[in-house]
Amino acid sequence: MNDEVLESGFNGLTSAQPSLPAAWYYDPDHHTREMREIWGKAWVYLARAASMDGPGAFRVFQFAGQEILVLRDREGALKGFFNTCRHRGSALCVDAEGRLDKGRITCPYHQWTYGLDGRLLATGAMRPVAGFERTEHGLLPVALAEWRGFLFANLAGPQAPAFDQAAAGELDGIANWPLERLVAGHTYRRELACNWKIFWENFNECLHCPNLHPELCELVPIFTRAIMARRDDPGWAAEAGNPDPMLAGGLRDGGETWSMDGRAQGALPGLSEPDQAAGHRYGVVMPSLFIACHRDYVRAVRLVPLGPERMELSAEWLFDPEMLARPDFDKAKITDFATLVMEQDGAACEMNQRGLKAQGYEHGVLMQEEYEVFLFQDWVRGALGETMIAHSKAASRASRRAE
Ligand code: FES
Ligand SMILES: [Fe+2]
Repeated sequence: MNDEVLESGFNGLTSAQPSLPAAWYYDPDHHTREMREIWGKAWVYLARAASMDGPGAFRVFQFAGQEILVLRDREGALKGFFNTCRHRGSALCVDAEGRLDKGRITCPYHQWTYGLDGRLLATGAMRPVAGFERTEHGLLPVALAEWRGFLFANLAGPQAPAFDQAAAGELDGIANWPLERLVAGHTYRRELACNWKIFWENFNECLHCPNLHPELCELVPIFTRAIMARRDDPGWAAEAGNPDPMLAGGLRDGGETWSMDGRAQGALPGLSEPDQAAGHRYGVVMPSLFIACHRDYVRAVRLVPLGPERMELSAEWLFDPEMLARPDFDKAKITDFATLVMEQDGAACEMNQRGLKAQGYEHGVLMQEEYEVFLFQDWVRGALGETMIAHSKAASRASRRAE
C-alpha cells in the first residue's frame, strides 16, 4: 500500500504508476474472472424502474453471462429472477420486454407455470412423480435495489452488500437533483469495440479533451488545460480564490448547461445556486452507471460488457415532465451535444483497444493527471483480490472529482 502516490495537496499522482496488464483488456479467461468477481458481485444498473409500468410488465436484461427477468407483480413491486425455467433450464421469457397478462409466467418449452412471485404453480402435461416437490422448484431469485427511480440487480443475491453501502458517497454530490420525478425523453445506444475498462479510463481523464472534444472545451474552459478540476494543477494554491472558469472549473461565462449553445431551458426544481453554477455533477455507480446532472436535465449512461473486447453503451436523457411537455422545448439542442461527445469518446475507446495487443506492450504508464484512472484501476485490482497500490484512497474518488 502506498498512499504517497496521492498525498500531495493536489489531486494528481506524485509518481508514474503502471497501468493494468494489457492482457486484462482482451484475454477471455481474464474477462471471465472479471465477470465473476466484479460484475457478478456488484450492483449493476438495469433501467429506470418506470420502464416496467403496471402489473405484469417485464423486461429481460443480460450481463455477466446471465439473463435476468425483472417483472412488476400485482402489488406493484419489482421482482427479479434468473430467466431460467427450473424444469430443464429453458429461457423463460424469450422477448426482451412485454407484459405477463395472465399474471403468471409460462415456460414456452413444456409449459411449466410460475406465479409472479416465482412460485411454481403447475407442471404442464407432466404427471406427479415420486421425489418431486413443487415447492422446491420455484424461480431462482436475483437481488434488486431501487434508488431514486434507478433499478439495480446484484447476482450475489443474499450475499450482496446493501446498495447504499456499495454506493458509498459516490452519489452525494447529486442529492439535490429531483431524480424520482424525471422522465426519459431520449435514448442513445451503440456497441463499442473495446473492453469495458477502457470506457471508464476514458471517462476518468481529460488529457484527451483538448484534442478530441473541441466543443466541450469551448463550454468548459478548464478542459482546454487537459485537467478536470482546479486541484489537478500542482500549482493550484497560488490561484486558490480565482473564480475564472479556466482555473476554477465550471462553465464559460454565460454558459448555463451542456447544450449546443450552452443555454439552459429552465432549471430543475430543488437545485441550489452552487448546483446550478457547477455546470455538471457526476454520480457514479461502478461498474455500470454514471449519472451526469445539469441544471435543466440529467443523462444516465449505462455500460455492459458484451465480451472481452466489446461493450454496449446506452444513454437516457431524463427531463422534468413539465419542461418536456412545453411546446417551445428544444430537446435536440440538449441531446445533440452529449451525443457528439459520446461519439468522440467512443471512437477514442475503440482506437485505444486497437493498439493494446502489440507484441512487447505489457502495460502502459499513468502520468500525473491520471489519478482518477489510477483509482479506477486500483479498484479493479482490489475487486479481483489483487494487491492494491493505494487502497485507503480508493473511496475518495467522488470528493476529488467534485473539487
Ligand atoms: S424447460 Fe421449461 S417446462 Fe421444460
Ligand atoms: Fe471524453
